[in-house]
Amino acid sequence: MSSNPTSDRLYFRQLLAGRDFAQSDPIAGQMVNFIYLIGDRQTRECVIVDPAWNIDDLWEIAAADEMKITGVLATHFHADHIGGDLFGTDVPGVRALLEKAALKIHCQRAEEEWILRGTGISKTDLAPADSGDKVRVGDIEITLIHTPGHTPGSQCFLVEDRLVAGDTLFLQGCGRTDFPGGDKDEIYRSITERLAKIPDSTVLYPGHLYAPEPCASMGETRKSNFVFQVPSIEAWRQMV
Ligand SMILES: [Fe+2]
Repeated sequence: MSSNPTSDRLYFRQLLAGRDFAQSDPIAGQMVNFIYLIGDRQTRECVIVDPAWNIDDLWEIAAADEMKITGVLATHFHADHIGGDLFGTDVPGVRALLEKAALKIHCQRAEEEWILRGTGISKTDLAPADSGDKVRVGDIEITLIHTPGHTPGSQCFLVEDRLVAGDTLFLQGCGRTDFPGGDKDEIYRSITERLAKIPDSTVLYPGHLYAPEPCASMGETRKSNFVFQVPSIEAWRQMV
């Protein structure tokens, strides 16, 4: 897995719910989700990672940058990432976005059923992927890496020297595994094995602002995040 430095063509925006958009939604402010726009500055196309909370705001942010949203990447099915019922609150997400434009939602195959159940969209809206598959936006290539554990079909996105990790890996700690479909063995393997080849120079962009900084290099994260200090899966099982 190579990591290229950021090219001139890469368009990449990290947007914090409750601050950069959905400012009037107090729950969005509490959930501190990050949404990402990734695209090609030359062709002016982008994909949106985990659209939720306020679809009109997100659409307008892309439009203000003269970028056209041409697809969706879903890290996982949870409502705070792609919309649906969040403990009794109906969070707007992919379903509202599909009313604006017919877009494909790229998910891991293992997440398909969970997304359909949680959002009520139809199977034809989904583009199920396998680990290692790539999505192209203009000249920008994004690699989809299956990292199960937080959910069965959680995935991370590698684009040039950046890793968008959803709820698999945060700067401090990792995603919970006590929700339906969670698996603590799998998340440990995802972080320590499936993401092992990601270079230290690659920058980690998480799914929530759960640390003082919004992003950090994988090298720093490997030094400071406790998950990487756990010596074995047996020790991990004892801990969580
Ligand atoms: Fe989640």
